[in-house]
Amino acid sequence: MSKVHIMEHPLIQHKITYIRREETGSKEFREIVSEIAALMCYEATRNLKLKDVRIKTPICEMTGKELSGKKMAIVPILRAGLGMVDGMLRMIPAAKVGHIGLYRNPETYEPVEYYCKLPADCSEREVFVVDPMLATGGSSVAAIQLLKEKGVKNIRFLCIVAAPEGIERMKAEHPDVDLYVGVLDEGLNEHKYIVPGLGDAGDRIFGTK
Ligand code: PRP
Ligand code: URA
Repeated sequence: MSKVHIMEHPLIQHKITYIRREETGSKEFREIVSEIAALMCYEATRNLKLKDVRIKTPICEMTGKELSGKKMAIVPILRAGLGMVDGMLRMIPAAKVGHIGLYRNPETYEPVEYYCKLPADCSEREVFVVDPMLATGGSSVAAIQLLKEKGVKNIRFLCIVAAPEGIERMKAEHPDVDLYVGVLDEGLNEHKYIVPGLGDAGDRIFGTK
């Protein structure tokens, strides 16, 4: 069963409120999305495996800890997921980055795939799928399905704002995937936008519209 981790850290909550404001422009929006992603990455990597390693400091020998588990990959769902990549890479700079391009059909709200390029050894990696918005769940469910079809087994999903509908759909369709959620909102409006949400994340990051 998926674990759903709702971020309680005050810095994350403060920054999410900042990007929700309609007067926040693209420059600040982008910068803060990246900061939120870095903080969420910290929370989403809490249970990574460590091993003991003998090292020598300038003073003496000691046993330190270093990561021992699988290598990692970050997979943003285009476009808006791109806004979270820099922040994630700041925390895990050795990660590789794959891209999945999906957009929501404006009439049916169903995801349409237009791009997929993943690291060659993606199926061997711990994969962090990132997208600021989890609304109906259609896009994230489809992106994770695509990864599983390519043999990826270890997947975590990070989003900044989620609707309960999206969480329920993810839990039902990908119960093996843990969810890291910045904030859980009330629901969806008639256009399947998250309420109160922050509007269209892609448009706000890239200044389109
Ligand atoms: C947004 C968002 C998610 C999706 C969430 O992308 O970034 O990918 O909608 O909605 P869902 O949970 O109902 O699928 P959008 O389709 O607007 O594309 P864009 O990022 O290219 O603007
Ligand atoms: N996609 C967005 O960018 N925002 C929403 O509220 C829903 C889907």
